[in-house]
Amino acid sequence: MSERERTGLFITFEGVEGCGKSTQTRLLVEHLEARGIEVVLTREPGGTALGERLREILLDVGQTGMRAETELFLYLASRAEHVAHVIVPALARGAVVISDRFGDASVAYQGGGRGLGADLVRSLNETATGGVKPDISFLLDLDAGEGLGRLDGRIQEGGEVASRDRIESETIEFHGAVRQAYLDEAARDPERFAVLDARGHIEELAREIASRVDDRLMERNRTHPGDD
Ligand code: TMP
Repeated sequence: MSERERTGLFITFEGVEGCGKSTQTRLLVEHLEARGIEVVLTREPGGTALGERLREILLDVGQTGMRAETELFLYLASRAEHVAHVIVPALARGAVVISDRFGDASVAYQGGGRGLGADLVRSLNETATGGVKPDISFLLDLDAGEGLGRLDGRIQEGGEVASRDRIESETIEFHGAVRQAYLDEAARDPERFAVLDARGHIEELAREIASRVDDRLMERNRTHPGDD
């Protein structure tokens, strides 16, 4: 897809377990919709019927002994479907696409956490996405132990989450490596990433995120006048 065809804005949210991505994605959707902007909220793994089936397999604690490579290919398979059937069409019609996780999650979890290496994952991501990259990636940075503590707190409260899933059940070392790989990825691409301290106040974080997105939309409208 050339820049000329692509007039929407692609935003991703990333971070360790319990970093507050879901809350912030929801608040950003509300902010943009209140401005009358078409928003497509989606997630990985998932976002398509096939992707959601892959998600069930990937997060199923009963799925023991899965090889790291198998895991990576399943995430990539979900991504390939997601890009082709959801993200590219939405961007082409000028929508703002917000994805709760995308390619950087594979670099962090499979590259860092599983130790497959960032280079391999970046290169396979390129194949899965056909080169589609987010315009802005918000990394909600948080100590891995703190994030898992938040997650366990929610489980004890008896909310939506009943127990840790297959990936959440990994060791603290695994999740620490995920956090580090995310930070390394952000340092490699500071133009695209906004690293925010996830311990910040929810509303303040939401305001910071909304203001960065608003700035980018203004820039986009200068480049593609009449797209809205
Ligand atoms: P979620 O809990 O944020 O919905 O994400 C699902 C889980 O999948 C989460 O533990 C992170 C993990 N994950 C990967 O390991 N690799 C990936 O490429 C993606 C997108 C998610």
